[in-house]
Amino acid sequence: MSADLADLPPVSAADYIAAIAQHVSSVCVITTAWEGERFGLTATAVASVSATPARLLVCVNKSGQSHDKILRAGRFCVNVLTERQDQVALAFAGMAGVADKFAVGEWTELETGAPALVDAAACFDCRLASLSDHSTHSVLFGDVVATRHMAGEDALLYGVRRFRQLRKVFSGIAGDDEYL
Ligand SMILES: Cc1cc2nc3c(=O)[nH]c(=O)nc-3n(C[C@H](O)[C@H](O)[C@H](O)COP(=O)(O)O)c2cc1C
Repeated sequence: MSADLADLPPVSAADYIAAIAQHVSSVCVITTAWEGERFGLTATAVASVSATPARLLVCVNKSGQSHDKILRAGRFCVNVLTERQDQVALAFAGMAGVADKFAVGEWTELETGAPALVDAAACFDCRLASLSDHSTHSVLFGDVVATRHMAGEDALLYGVRRFRQLRKVFSGIAGDDEYL
């Protein structure tokens, strides 16, 4: 990086938050199990890293309950919610006023023992491969050891401060009047 670029200060948190709010993502619930207890949080900061090896990343706030439990357990499951699972999203974001988050939805396990949501759009069961420290958050890299998915289910989205559904746009189907 040139000296000039290194001298540029970051934008304010308020400016960053206002801009990143425009970024629409699918809504996931990240779960783990540690010493017989289950933990989890709603997260949109989830991304695919590579297919070979199968690896994804999740950004988790260090101040939450689940963060340290995921690190200790060394396992987590990324559950991609369907558009009908906004109540699960609210529960795991701590916004539903429920004492037991796992009372919302039906839960099972795949390979690692982390909780997997039975009717999620997709589940990625991960062994924690590595982590990277970034101020308030850790970026957790997970090696995916098991998956499940439900073909045809649309994912729940979040952006511009609202839960959203996919709007289907049929473009590029030349010659088919039904979709024009
Ligand atoms: C739409 C939405 C997306 C969120 N995304 C994240 C995220 O990517 N990472 C994170 O650490 N928290 C995220 N949160 C906040 C956590 O879900 C929330 O702080 C939760 O209560 C943490 O639970 P815990 O303390 O039991 O771990 C998000 C919340 C909402 C509503």
